[in-house]
Amino acid sequence: MFAVRFAAAALALLPACLAPAAPASATAADPWWRHAVIYEIYPRSFQDSDGDGTGDLKGITQRLDYLGQLGVDAIWIAPFYPSPQVDFGYDISDYEAIDPQYGTMADFERLLAEARRRHIRVILDMVLNHTSDQHPWFLDAARSRSSPHHDFYVWSGGKGDGAGGPRPPNNWVSLFGGSAWQFVPAVGEFYYHRFYRQQPDLNWRNPAVERAMFAAMRFWLDRGVAGFRLDAVTELFEDAQLRDAPVLGGVNAQGDPNLSDVYTKNLPEVHAVMRRLRAMVDGYADERVLIGETYLEKTADLDAWYGGAQHDELQLPMDTLVGLGSRLDADTFRRHLSASQTELHGSQPLVVFDNHDNIRSWDRYGDGVHDAQIARIVATLLLTTRATALMYQGQEIGQRTATPRRVEDVRDPLGVRGWPRDKGRDGERTPMQWDASNPQAGFSTSAHTWLPVTSDYAQVNVQRESADPDSLLNWYRRLIALRRSNAALRSGRMLMLDAANPSVLSFARVSAAGEAVIVSLNMSAQPQSVTLGLAQAGLHGARLRTLLTDAGAPAEGAAADRHTLAPFASWVAEVH
Ligand code: GLC
Ligand code: MG
Repeated sequence: MFAVRFAAAALALLPACLAPAAPASATAADPWWRHAVIYEIYPRSFQDSDGDGTGDLKGITQRLDYLGQLGVDAIWIAPFYPSPQVDFGYDISDYEAIDPQYGTMADFERLLAEARRRHIRVILDMVLNHTSDQHPWFLDAARSRSSPHHDFYVWSGGKGDGAGGPRPPNNWVSLFGGSAWQFVPAVGEFYYHRFYRQQPDLNWRNPAVERAMFAAMRFWLDRGVAGFRLDAVTELFEDAQLRDAPVLGGVNAQGDPNLSDVYTKNLPEVHAVMRRLRAMVDGYADERVLIGETYLEKTADLDAWYGGAQHDELQLPMDTLVGLGSRLDADTFRRHLSASQTELHGSQPLVVFDNHDNIRSWDRYGDGVHDAQIARIVATLLLTTRATALMYQGQEIGQRTATPRRVEDVRDPLGVRGWPRDKGRDGERTPMQWDASNPQAGFSTSAHTWLPVTSDYAQVNVQRESADPDSLLNWYRRLIALRRSNAALRSGRMLMLDAANPSVLSFARVSAAGEAVIVSLNMSAQPQSVTLGLAQAGLHGARLRTLLTDAGAPAEGAAADRHTLAPFASWVAEVH
């Protein structure tokens, strides 16, 4: 399901304006989320305020000034609802409360108010596909077939009693390993779980499920949240006939047979639910947003999730194809970025390179030699294409993936079960590295943080990078400030330049008034020449003024159409 599971220089000459301006007020035609930088917070690992070794809501509030200075428009917070924490919060046992380990409702209200004061919107994670097996609905459902909530979940009698007892109804496997079916003797039936067995899937063919989940979302919308990131939203429906999945051959990292997901993912029924959800959310003022966790095969598949030409489903289904690959390759990026401009009926792409489920981009795209420059290329791609940007805590300082070395240290059950082929997701969830004030990198005062702090924290941390003008953190700050202040970067159309160049990705952003910015990224270890072809692209100007670059970019004021870029250089320039 996850797209990827794996196994310097002088900065800009511009005095970057780091103090974020209050965002221009959004109109329906030009809503805030179209230009936003959205920052994902994994609350267990962001900031611990009470010294128990796990992050919490008060911790997030303490760090809002940092996020304001970075220039983010919104934060998406991974689940903090009451949960047995089998899947670290993605197994929810109460959708309308706060897990005490993260704080109280009063802490949440304060976080919301303090974020609003800084013009930062708060987006919640909403898990619609499944609940915890400890949710009162499931406890009731599993008691008896006549329980009021029995039909909230997906049940099957299976294939009848074989010699070894009841057998599951089909060959479906959980994305987290093993059969997707779990037998409950009290009711004599199996329930379906796409993820862990402690995460029973809800039955979205039952209208009462939709009513209950929409009510939970209203609970938070009424309190002022700016929208939701919809977890595993492609998985809401399964084939009504429970047909066997076609077998593809081979086994996956969990040792299960590779199966087609035609009967368990992206079923057409989901779109009617999305349209009703969008209508519900649109009933609220201030452009609340729906973001989808939409891992799909190709960009064109995303179009339906926007509602195609009607634009009446999600505003921002995630495009996981641009940034969740593993090869820094100009052609691949050009192809994916072009598709996102042409295959979505003009909808706004949402680009993402990092999240709490995938190896960090630093390690995925890095070559072990030019990692710092490659991280700048990733940042530039994220923040200069025509797309809404989704980033993940720690990405801005170049946090590394710290995969556990011993199975006994693994916390993610996926890694325990899959060891050593699948080591789980702990590596991308280690605590945020704030400073070198203590061995917990300022994340906590407890020596026992829920995951260990990565040993490089004395070099890689917010405080140190804030003070270093050449740091990755300041590169991110400058890019975000530029994106806010430059009309072409903010909302201009995008066109590819030098499109046959196999090593350098170049494109222009052009504002409605004709102002143009060009971006060139050398994705190779050799110097490369670039022929921008500005005139052929309809861009007229005699001079290029550099807005942002690292060492290897062309000289300031270069007027020619042909340039040489140093290995792995990033270059952003204005056409005059
Ligand atoms: C999403 C979440 C992931 C979680 C899964 C099941 O993919 O991002 O962390 O384990 O859904 O809820
Ligand atoms: Mg489902």
